[in-house]
Amino acid sequence: MPGTGDRDERPLGLPAFDELADEYAERVLTKAHNAYYERLATLSLLPDVGGKRVLDAGCGPGIYAEKLLECGAELSCFDVSKRMVELAIRRLAGRAPVRVADMNAPLDFLEDASFDIVLSALDHMLEPLPTPEFEAADPGDYVKLQRRPGFLCLRMKRVKRT
Ligand SMILES: C[S@@+](CC[C@H](N)C(=O)[O-])C[C@H]1O[C@@H](n2cnc3c(N)ncnc32)[C@H](O)[C@@H]1O
Repeated sequence: MPGTGDRDERPLGLPAFDELADEYAERVLTKAHNAYYERLATLSLLPDVGGKRVLDAGCGPGIYAEKLLECGAELSCFDVSKRMVELAIRRLAGRAPVRVADMNAPLDFLEDASFDIVLSALDHMLEPLPTPEFEAADPGDYVKLQRRPGFLCLRMKRVKRT
């Protein structure tokens, strides 16, 4: 914890994502940028997900997850924010597993080589450690989870603390 010499390893922006979750879930459905641009653009990059094992990493309230399920994906999701996960669980209503997990930690709960497609549509990445050299979300972790051939789609703007 700050001042004690111990490092608080929780992602720095986590409280913000928890606090913003409800508003985000509501606005992202109809906000023009999300509804008519980024979601369409990102989904258009994916191959046919029908019958494919898909991981939605940083699933937020589960908007992408729901679309992927509608297209026949066999889906797993996780997000670091507890509130986002609650909202995704509500939205997906048992159609896919959703759990709280930090992509900066080992994703040991997922089997290696078990996904055809990994989608991580984040925009804002949380950096857990106050060190500029820390590299968040090593794509290598996702590659490990993928079957061969696999498809990896990452959308992110990194905001680095200086
Ligand atoms: C802008 S929202 C996007 C949510 C969803 N992918 C979408 O496009 O609607 C970013 C999400 O990434 C999650 N996130 C950020 N850093 C993360 C991390 N280190 N591990 C897991 N999830 C993370 C946040 O909690 C938040 O739900």
